[in-house]
Amino acid sequence: MPDINDLQKKLRRLAEERDAVVLAHNYQRPEVQAAAHHTGDSLELARIATRDEHSVILFCGVHFMAETASILSPHKTVLMPDKRAGCPMADMVTVAGLKALKQEHPDAVVVTYVNSSAAVKAETDVCCTSANAIEIVERFPHDQKIIFVPDRNLGDYVARQTGRMETMILWPGYCHVHEDFRAEEIRQVCAQHPASVLMAHPECRREVLEIADVVASTSGMLRYPATSDATTFVVATETGLLYRLGEIYPERTFVAASRRAVCPNMKLTTLEKCVATLDAEWDDVQQHEVTVPPQVRAAALRAVERMIA
Ligand code: 13P
Ligand code: SF4
Repeated sequence: MPDINDLQKKLRRLAEERDAVVLAHNYQRPEVQAAAHHTGDSLELARIATRDEHSVILFCGVHFMAETASILSPHKTVLMPDKRAGCPMADMVTVAGLKALKQEHPDAVVVTYVNSSAAVKAETDVCCTSANAIEIVERFPHDQKIIFVPDRNLGDYVARQTGRMETMILWPGYCHVHEDFRAEEIRQVCAQHPASVLMAHPECRREVLEIADVVASTSGMLRYPATSDATTFVVATETGLLYRLGEIYPERTFVAASRRAVCPNMKLTTLEKCVATLDAEWDDVQQHEVTVPPQVRAAALRAVERMIA
């Protein structure tokens, strides 16, 4: 079994040879995050993918993230170490379903969470991530009807924060990892850590967000402890984030709100697969490529550009 350090060095060397940048989402395996050139939340990675100058992007995340990078930079080769890494929530909204809802509400604008397919983004006015969903929704007049897809939990949170419960129409999608958190279970974890701060991702259910001290995207949660005197944080999101939190704040304690919170798709990417992808003959490399058909891309681009603007 090759040593992790050797694989990380090999990945960096291959990346240099192939003119590739390695991007990893905050939920990736620790050894993948450690080897990446950049880590971040969905919004940060989309921005880096746009401004980075390498001709190849090795995207360690899930399919919609690589697709978003390809929408923003069609001249770049976007690769995934394992293309089976999808997002079940993104698959919960279809183009046909969204079109039908738009027909029902012809006066509504469509705000789509970035966790969605390129084809759904193409039917969208503006995309958002968990980091900027409130800001994006607030750009519309207060009485504007808004169809929000696909995450009902994020949509509900945004509607409550912006006072738009009457005007936002929520698609009933959810992330199975975050949907699984329960307030009662988390209260018990917090009780074991008195004076702890509870940080939760807005993909969690309302009952969890209501007891959270901080609601933030993954990178928001990485920044928050710097602004707090607390020494212990209970973290209600995918457990991959605990690695980065521990790296950034070695003197603080971070506790998973639930040990079950593991996204199997995020974990499909391994260091070995990253190395194998960049080490392959070009024909094999192309099997890892993520592309978006030109017509879909053109329609999705406007909504994604508005998101990162
Ligand atoms: P962020 O990193 O943008 O908060 O997204 C969380 C997520 O679920 C990505 O799959
Ligand atoms: Fe999708 Fe949830 Fe996994 Fe993120 S954590 S990729 S939203 S299933």
